[in-house]
Amino acid sequence: MGNGFHVRKGVALASLVAALAAIVVIIALSVRIAQEKSRNAGTLPSTAEPTAFIPKEPWDHYRLPDTITPISYNVTFWPRLEPDDNDLYLFTGNCTVVFKCTRETDLILIHSIELNFTLLDGFHARLTGLNGPAPSLKKTWLEDRTEYLVVQLDGPLQVNSSYELFTEFAGELSLIQQGFYRSVYTEDGVEKVIAATQMQPTHARKAFPCFDEPALKAVFHVTLIHPQNTTALSNSITSGHVNITVDGQDLIRTSFGPTVIMSTYLLAFVVCDYGHIRTEPGRSVLIRVWASKTAIDKGKGNYALEKAPPILAFYEKYYNISYPLEKSDQIAIPGFGHGAMENWGLITYTEPALLQGLHESFYEEKEVVVAMVSHELAHMWFGNLVTLRWWNDLWLNEGFASYVSNLGSDHAEPTWELNDFIAPEEILHVMDEDASCFSHPLSVKEEEARTPHEIEFLFDSITYKKGAAVLRMLSHFVTEAVLTKGLQTYLKEFQYKNTVPKDLWKHLQMAVDEAGISLPRPVEEIMNRWVLQMGFPLITIDTRTGNVTQKHYLSSLECVMDTPSEFNYSWFVPITWMKNGKEEPKYWLLTKEDTNTDMALGSSDWLVANINLTSFFRVNYDAENWERIINKLNSRHQDIPLINRAQIIDDAFNLAELGMVNMTLALRITSYLDKEVEYMPWRRADFYLKKFLDILLPRGIHGPLQAYFRKKVTPVFQYYKKLTRNWTERPTRPSDLYNQVTVINLACKVELKDCTQLATTWFREWMNNSPTNKIPPSLEKEVYCSAVAAGGTEEWDFIWSMYQKNVMSEQTSYSLMYALSCTRQPWLISRYLEYCLDPEQVPVNDIHHVITFLAHNPVSQPFLLYFLRTNWQDIVNKSFFSKESVIYIITSLMSTRLQLNQFLQFKEELKKQLSLGEEEFEVFNTVEANMKWIERYSKEVHDWLISETSEK
Ligand SMILES: *[C@@H]1O[C@H](CO)[C@@H](O)[C@H](O)[C@H]1NC(C)=O
Ligand SMILES: *[C@@H]1O[C@H](CO)[C@@H](O)[C@H](O)[C@H]1NC(C)=O
Ligand SMILES: *[C@@H]1O[C@H](CO)[C@@H](O)[C@H](O)[C@H]1NC(C)=O
Ligand SMILES: *[C@@H]1O[C@H](CO)[C@@H](O)[C@H](O)[C@H]1NC(C)=O
Ligand SMILES: *[C@@H]1O[C@H](CO)[C@@H](O)[C@H](O)[C@H]1NC(C)=O
Ligand SMILES: [Zn+2]
Repeated sequence: MGNGFHVRKGVALASLVAALAAIVVIIALSVRIAQEKSRNAGTLPSTAEPTAFIPKEPWDHYRLPDTITPISYNVTFWPRLEPDDNDLYLFTGNCTVVFKCTRETDLILIHSIELNFTLLDGFHARLTGLNGPAPSLKKTWLEDRTEYLVVQLDGPLQVNSSYELFTEFAGELSLIQQGFYRSVYTEDGVEKVIAATQMQPTHARKAFPCFDEPALKAVFHVTLIHPQNTTALSNSITSGHVNITVDGQDLIRTSFGPTVIMSTYLLAFVVCDYGHIRTEPGRSVLIRVWASKTAIDKGKGNYALEKAPPILAFYEKYYNISYPLEKSDQIAIPGFGHGAMENWGLITYTEPALLQGLHESFYEEKEVVVAMVSHELAHMWFGNLVTLRWWNDLWLNEGFASYVSNLGSDHAEPTWELNDFIAPEEILHVMDEDASCFSHPLSVKEEEARTPHEIEFLFDSITYKKGAAVLRMLSHFVTEAVLTKGLQTYLKEFQYKNTVPKDLWKHLQMAVDEAGISLPRPVEEIMNRWVLQMGFPLITIDTRTGNVTQKHYLSSLECVMDTPSEFNYSWFVPITWMKNGKEEPKYWLLTKEDTNTDMALGSSDWLVANINLTSFFRVNYDAENWERIINKLNSRHQDIPLINRAQIIDDAFNLAELGMVNMTLALRITSYLDKEVEYMPWRRADFYLKKFLDILLPRGIHGPLQAYFRKKVTPVFQYYKKLTRNWTERPTRPSDLYNQVTVINLACKVELKDCTQLATTWFREWMNNSPTNKIPPSLEKEVYCSAVAAGGTEEWDFIWSMYQKNVMSEQTSYSLMYALSCTRQPWLISRYLEYCLDPEQVPVNDIHHVITFLAHNPVSQPFLLYFLRTNWQDIVNKSFFSKESVIYIITSLMSTRLQLNQFLQFKEELKKQLSLGEEEFEVFNTVEANMKWIERYSKEVHDWLISETSEK
């Protein structure tokens, strides 16, 4: 799966996340802990299981016994695209599964849930022997807890004999996107229904009874019965259509050729009234893009169709195995909540992940499409052809697809330099998560991933992003050529089979040995440290002595580490480094502490470790080296690689928050930014600087801080003004496109005159001539916000009227709600809050956005706190505002001790009203810690800022 939340700039998808991010930073730490606590609570088997349940019978266990191996399935489905008398959308179906008995048993367990069965001679199934008679059935029933159809037999099945189990069933095509489901969209004013599937990880059993484990691969023959004006698609190419009449309805029966041998979770079928475009006939693999006829007619699928063939060709070469199917369909599913799903031959995508031109034809949309198509096609080999035996190693499947998709994207759009900034940004992002004491190892134990709930939980960003990061590290220390070689022999040996990570390590080791690459430890031993224990090291290099140490990096001082690790939180760390801008031989740190005399420097030398962020660690230096890095940044920052400039900023602020370096040191690193124009360093600086601004807002220090940032951002603002010919053109490099947004954003936030003027001018033009809006979509959020902040009632009312018209895209609607929250007029804030209580004004679905946005505006904070206090019962009942979000918003409002004390006064009241437990308030300890931190640093920072800004 390509989880939607892992896509950068998922346009509409991610805009909410982005909006939230602005707030998240204020209390990133506290909220993260709160969230992960509640998440972790969910994974504990003790809460997933009824208390003290002791499995006794075979059907009490979540894993299938090893008595039966499926060989093939013949499945027929008839989805009803119109509701029945009870307003239900149903499907009916039948399934014949042929299986072989591999160990004697008188019991058949087959997964099934949410299905109703037709009883056949009083049983849920019929059994036939293919090599002689089958034992008769004794008893059949549905075991809902473990999601089985249980078939007890009168006598045993014979080892090595084959049998056929036939079932007939009905289910609901619900709107929940699991198993066989429906999705609804409107075209030309007509509501249309499409039936589609999502089987990963454990939903195939909701569509038909099957042995639903990834290692139980089989061949599937799919048949679909569907209305005459619809198309049916499945993994394989269509093998025949027949017109049939059932109960007076004219229908088509479409059958599909047998699939290759594959796992149940990769099965897919769709019935829709779509249009499509396809590659030229005559190519070896047919590639099609499917979407609503309107979308296809408007050319929205063209870009995906243009890029899928070169990406597929790239992988055929990369993996050195031809794509094994005749076709590859890419289909857009309206409202698909999973990002995209790599069903073999029929990949499903959420619309923004496949189509383009949904809003404006802006570049970010294409980037999402390329990334998603690359990710899903990468799975066709790694994941589909060779499959991990069990879900506990999901990280290898998803991490690999994520890592390789960067190569695929880069191949499809070489001029975009995507590889140079996407991977590093994701690495810094996931480090932040993995630094929490509630993180988890990439690979969990097989026993910890048994229930559907536990399996679902594995699809998180550690799995995707850290997985990709450690594989990127691996590719650097064995070299990309060796990685590719090992991968190719691995795929060849295990095609159509299942593996465990050890199998991949073995093949990589063979490739390493063959290439004569010397590693200090075998590949498997090195990788186990990164895969089997959570977190990552902080490397500290003392350039006075060459002393190098490692220590588990944790982002909170309060964190109590109670998860033991068999490796004692020590890693085998490949450290690349440069001295005075020249790369030195790679150094392996294999113990907690070591000395590398090459790293002992002369008094004018400088050292930077982890070149281009190829390894997964943070790094700290002795004070002298930090000083020399600062000097280098200020004299010739280009001597330090771009990615490292971003990393240096990121590391310094992180270490400062932990008190490991001075806060002024981190700030002094940003002093070179008046010479920096690149995206990566600005992006990191922007993140921390805004956090500073927000935390320090209600304090006297805020003024000097703003003045400092204004000074730093002015040159780069002017740079983009020139590059875009006074904001009339768009930059061509993607990283410039992003950076322009970052820079305008920050410049307007710190009230750089040129920026507020620009925003106001654009905004005025739009107000005076409202059908045409020249503000680029990627800038609209901050531009509207700045204009509203700088303006008064007129600007606010204009945005409000645009919001009320509600004709905009979802993204624009967020931008408008956000902009409304930026006003500095108290009475407008109060009115906006009042509107939240009136569904005629602010729809219920939008309330939580409005409140979340308002929380970031310092002027609105007292009003909001009062408003929440008076109305929270209402807000929680009426909207999608969860109790957790209330706490979240409230903590985000806390930046002074006075506010905290005020809040504590009515904490009891809140606890009672929302029936919250004391543990929900644990985040306040962190808020207190943050405040202590501010108190500790604000004088030092203040003095430094004054000295910086008053020097001229
Ligand atoms: C499954 O379908 C295929 C193709 O129609 C057919 O050849 C085969 O005999 C069927 N198998 C069973 C067990 O019905
Ligand atoms: C399965 O259902 C289809 C459609 O109703 C029917 O044509 C077919 O005969 C059924 N298969 C069996 C083995 O009964
Ligand atoms: C399954 O059976 C239950 C109980 O009779 C019924 O309420 C439900 O609607 C049925 N579902 C389907 C999909 O037929
Ligand atoms: C099925 O019916 C449609 C319209 O009723 C007709 O156009 C089509 O040719 C028929 N197909 C076959 C294979 O008979
Ligand atoms: C197919 O045609 C029927 C009858 O004309 C119509 O009611 C239905 O909405 C159509 N279905 C689709 C998916 O277009
Ligand atoms: Zn994936």
